[in-house]
Amino acid sequence: MINWPARASPCIRPIGAERSAECAAIHATSFAYPWQETDFEQLFVTPGTFADGAIEAKDEYLAGFVLSRVAADEAEILTIAVAPEWRRRGIATSLLKPHLHGLAAIRVNHLFLEVDVENTAARALYANFGFEQVGERKAYYRTAGAGSAAALVMRRDLL
Ligand SMILES: CC(C)(COP(=O)(O)OP(=O)(O)OC[C@H]1O[C@@H](n2cnc3c(N)ncnc32)[C@H](O)[C@@H]1OP(=O)(O)O)[C@@H](O)C(=O)NCCC(=O)NCCS
Repeated sequence: MINWPARASPCIRPIGAERSAECAAIHATSFAYPWQETDFEQLFVTPGTFADGAIEAKDEYLAGFVLSRVAADEAEILTIAVAPEWRRRGIATSLLKPHLHGLAAIRVNHLFLEVDVENTAARALYANFGFEQVGERKAYYRTAGAGSAAALVMRRDLL
């Protein structure tokens, strides 16, 4: 049995298509409509896509990741997810810090993302990083059953 540490200190480093299967597995535990391994493979080879992974030190497996797409001086965080057993241990925070620094280093100024209005965990995380709401898309996400939820459009300037 694994004793999960209260605060994780994984290695954060850029990841690519070799991690597609692990990204898809984490995504499947995180979202109602998960992306497939092939979706990640395609994203990783799309120019302008940048991803960082949280790599568990002992066994080198992926505990979480963040993936963004850059166009000129703007970028969008397409997805961020942490494996359920690793949540609330600071991994998303550890991922976002270097990811945002990396985007700023390539002169990305305006960073956007969309978040489900009902996703309190992600909204708290983004608030910690200074993202502010700049829009709302009504009935943007399909939820379980026939429901829908609004997406908040968030922005943070990096430079
Ligand atoms: C959102 C998510 C990425 C956060 O990852 P995490 O590694 O658990 O986040 P951290 O441990 O770094 O937490 C950072 C802050 O986020 C907030 N937070 C994280 N989980 C929370 C929860 N369940 N409830 C309330 N706030 C939460 C807190 O402010 C937290 O700071 P604190 O621990 O000092 O209180 C993770 O819950 C996840 O993968 N969720 C499913 C996928 C998802 O919703 N992605 C976002 C899509 S827009």
